Amino acid sequence: MNIRKAVIPVAGLGTRFLPATKAIPKEMLTIVDRPTIQYIVEEAVASGIEQVIFVTSEGKSAIENHFDYDFALDTVLHMKKKENLAEELNHISNLIDIVSVRQKKPLGLGHAIWSTRNVVGNEPFAVLLGDDLVLSDEPCCRQMISLFDDVQESIVAIQRVPRDQTKSYGIVEGKPYDERTYTVDRMVEKPAPGVTDSDMAIIGRYILRPEIFSLLEETEPGHGGEIQLTDALLKLSRQRAMYAYEFQGTRFDAGDKLGYLKAIIAFGLRHPELGKEFRKHIKQVAENF
Ligand code: G1P
Repeated sequence: MNIRKAVIPVAGLGTRFLPATKAIPKEMLTIVDRPTIQYIVEEAVASGIEQVIFVTSEGKSAIENHFDYDFALDTVLHMKKKENLAEELNHISNLIDIVSVRQKKPLGLGHAIWSTRNVVGNEPFAVLLGDDLVLSDEPCCRQMISLFDDVQESIVAIQRVPRDQTKSYGIVEGKPYDERTYTVDRMVEKPAPGVTDSDMAIIGRYILRPEIFSLLEETEPGHGGEIQLTDALLKLSRQRAMYAYEFQGTRFDAGDKLGYLKAIIAFGLRHPELGKEFRKHIKQVAENF
């Protein structure tokens, strides 16, 4: 079975970035010259995904517009002979086939994923969370699809985190399977201190088998009163094998102020137009302040 579809939940309120996110979705905040959501969609495209399914809520139409063709803007850019810019914007709208599904109630990540069941259908699919940006040579999602090609079972991306941060993540316990991969024994969403010794934190990339939908349907609200994807994954891991994969690359939590600034610096240093000048500037800043 091939992974053709990717679910990207974008229904969250973005309260951590208020007031910036009062009138625009947090996914439209920019890293250098493109909104964070574009990096996520580009990762999906570079991983061979054919269709993206956004899970949206009220006030998120800017995201759909961003990936749409804008006839008026295209006409003006051509009139002003700004062909390169027009081409770049058309490239964005041609990136991929996009479908939107509304999350009817803000009941959590598990509920957001469940909302896509009729669009995903009976096939395995990828999930990419918009807060997690990954800078890597091979796109993180593609690394996971390669592993799925071998194991044909659900996979969660993980990275090691300091013990005092495990309470902010879904945490996985498992046994080594090969160099970067573990078989999942147990998982717990945002554990209180002492609940687990593991430091393997789930990062926002998943490959899920479609069996997850019926399990989500019967999952009771968990941590924070929300329907947690992690709780449904734990049930799935008891029915069939599941893997945790320590991906290659650096992850930035763009949903957090410090993580967002770190992402801007890293992506800025890699930017073809800015790289050299920006590196010089960063060095000066580090020396002078
Ligand atoms: C979600 C998941 C959590 C995961 C995290 C990764 O939490 O519920 O298991 O570790 O994403 O970013 P959130 O950060 O949305 O609260």
